[in-house]
Amino acid sequence: MSRRSSLTARLTLLFATASSLVLLALGLVIGSAMERHFEEQDIDTLGGKLELISHAIDQLRGTGEGTPLPQALAQAFVGHHELAILVLDADRQTVFSAGDARFPVMAPIASTAEATATPFVWSQGETQYRALATRIADPAHPGQQLIVAVAIDIAHHTQFMASFSRTLWLFMLGAALVSGLLGWFAARRGLASLQQVARQTATVTANKLDFRLAEDTVPTELSELVRSLNDMLARLEDAFQRLSDFSSDLAHELRTPISNLMTQTHVALSRARDAEDYRDILASNAEEFERMARMVSDMLFLAKSDNGLVIPNRQVVDLGAEVAALFEFYDALAEDKGVTLTQDGAVSVSGDPLMLRRALSNLLSNAVRHASADSLVRVRLDETADGARIRVENHGETLPAETLPRFFERFYRADPSRHHTSEGAGLGLAITRSIIVAHGGSIAVESRDGVTAFEITLPCA
Ligand SMILES: Nc1ncnc2c1ncn2[C@@H]1O[C@H](COP(=O)(O)OP(=O)(O)O)[C@@H](O)[C@H]1O
Ligand SMILES: [Mg+2]
Repeated sequence: MSRRSSLTARLTLLFATASSLVLLALGLVIGSAMERHFEEQDIDTLGGKLELISHAIDQLRGTGEGTPLPQALAQAFVGHHELAILVLDADRQTVFSAGDARFPVMAPIASTAEATATPFVWSQGETQYRALATRIADPAHPGQQLIVAVAIDIAHHTQFMASFSRTLWLFMLGAALVSGLLGWFAARRGLASLQQVARQTATVTANKLDFRLAEDTVPTELSELVRSLNDMLARLEDAFQRLSDFSSDLAHELRTPISNLMTQTHVALSRARDAEDYRDILASNAEEFERMARMVSDMLFLAKSDNGLVIPNRQVVDLGAEVAALFEFYDALAEDKGVTLTQDGAVSVSGDPLMLRRALSNLLSNAVRHASADSLVRVRLDETADGARIRVENHGETLPAETLPRFFERFYRADPSRHHTSEGAGLGLAITRSIIVAHGGSIAVESRDGVTAFEITLPCA
């Protein structure tokens, strides 16, 4: 047997069990009600007979030494063949008996209290008797009591009950089969849509990621599953698209410097040159190689961070001091543009100093590069409830809100005309973000009223 159970089998079993249990409970309730009804009926009948007997005995009392008790009773019950009667005197001697029933002279009769009728049942061969016994004052011996018991054959009741329970069991078996079958059928039908979903998803391949399952043709119970599958497809399609964009971007990015290098080399080789010229060409090639090497190592960093391999080497980092050091580095560039660098506040975090410096440096270089001439680039550090906050602001063009989320994408450059210039490859913000994410923080950008601000939140030290 396979350890995975079948849903159809489980539902079938469940249906069958549930309906059998319901029928069984119903049968038991009806059966016990009928049994009680029969018993009441029997006791009623027996009670009537006991009354007749006690009446007959009472009549003897008045007549003194008249007809003896046995004859009187025999007369009273002429024709009552269904009835068995036993009368015992105080010494447990039989005074009168009629019918085939052999009364068990046992506890119920012996312990019968005066005038309290006690019902009891016994079997005798094939038949079953129900009896009622009581005590009546003995007319022949004043002060003594007779024990009087009457019984009737209740075989027809027990037979009826037996056939009733036979019918009930048969019915239950039938109902279990039928409802099991219904359960099986319902499960098959219900699962058919699931199989259809499975068949449809089986057709999805990498170049068919735009496929979506039909949500309105499946039953409501499955629509959630279908919706999550569709959402998953959408996410996969998006990620796949990004990946393929990324590899084509990568090819483009590498093609330009390589073809530059190639042209330059061919031109250099086209005729004999002096050593000075060769040195110049090699120096320019070296610059291009350096940029390519930087890009490749940036790409490697991003690939590592995608795989969760960028693990910060944590220690307490004073971000105020880091920013001050970076300001010194960007001082010359800022001065060229007439940009003033200012810093307020200070905060410390636990993190990797080299990585955090790289992240801040990317933001600062962007800010200085995109700042309008003679403006202010401002870095604000403070501590909020969410953690340390680092805000880098510069004045410049207001960036369209819809492009902002794309800034952190690889190779994204807002101004396509700057493509393939000596400025960055569009990896800086992607790297900044992966560093911040590796530190458990977040980064956001906003741009309004001519001020663009990047804001980092990092858990405090
Ligand atoms: N402070 C800023 N002001 C305006 N645009 C910005 C700013 N910072 C980044 N950008 C835009 O985001 C793009 C991506 O930035 P980045 O990833 O650092 O790449 P890169 O600096 O190599 O161009 C930049 O090309 C630029 O268009
Ligand atoms: Mg940059």
